[in-house]
Amino acid sequence: MLVSAKEMLTKARAGHYAVGQFNINNLEWTKAILLTAEEMKSPVILGVSEGAGKYMCGYDTIVGMVNGMIKGLGITVPVALHLDHGSYEGAYKCIEAGFSSVMFDGSHYPIEENLAKTKELVEVCNKLGLSLEAEVGAIGGEEDGVVGGGEVADPKECKMIADLGVTMLAAGIGNIHGKYPENWAGLRFDVLEAISNEVGAEMPLVLHGGTGIPADMIKKAISLGVSKINVNTECQLAFAAATRQYIEEGKDLVGKGFDPRKVLAPGVEAIKATVKEKIELFGSANKA
Ligand code: 13P
Repeated sequence: MLVSAKEMLTKARAGHYAVGQFNINNLEWTKAILLTAEEMKSPVILGVSEGAGKYMCGYDTIVGMVNGMIKGLGITVPVALHLDHGSYEGAYKCIEAGFSSVMFDGSHYPIEENLAKTKELVEVCNKLGLSLEAEVGAIGGEEDGVVGGGEVADPKECKMIADLGVTMLAAGIGNIHGKYPENWAGLRFDVLEAISNEVGAEMPLVLHGGTGIPADMIKKAISLGVSKINVNTECQLAFAAATRQYIEEGKDLVGKGFDPRKVLAPGVEAIKATVKEKIELFGSANKA
């Protein structure tokens, strides 16, 4: 059964670890992430961007697939199905389809409008027992068509959004979606600390752009209140590299090596290895 992300993130905030949000793209991705979370006895959040939602034939298909997999694979760890960087309309569509968690990314609106729309969605999600993530400031780079300027969040605005009763808060602190450039200045821990002080010790903070952030920065971010870390590109890079190797080694040309289940298997294993490494780093193993 899908669960809201509230309980798993409240526990993570109190226990000084973070739960991974791993974005899904298809059946193989979802299966690899669920099996790894189960093996590691870790709670997990499956992230779905609006682009990936369209690709997977809409939110109803995804809810059906994930619920079916939880049953069919015998998954016992807590799983939240979460809309990533949702628009206002997208949030409502996912709520209707049966997602257990949504992110409403109103960071591109003026703060008053972000506050008003987030407030409305907090009320809807509370009634239904769903978790809601909000965003202040913007994550740099591009996430499946959502382009952010990388503005660093204003701690006072973070407090205003947190006070609406959101479950978790994403704040721009110099993090970027996709690969980090060579000259990246690193995370703004001064801003993260100021946000954490403003919103209080109980609000789970979300770190987007988890791909390529060095382990010491991840650990420091967790120590300052980050309880949810989003990873997408790293699984894509691992999948592509393993698939490339399979084809370049000509394995698809040997026997039944062209069987799609065989072609996709090394990529699936690569996703599993990436997810395992992140769960270990984030400290959520054996916390289910
Ligand atoms: P990366 O693709 O950089 O890992 O970011 C993922 C993310 O933040 C999804 O919202």
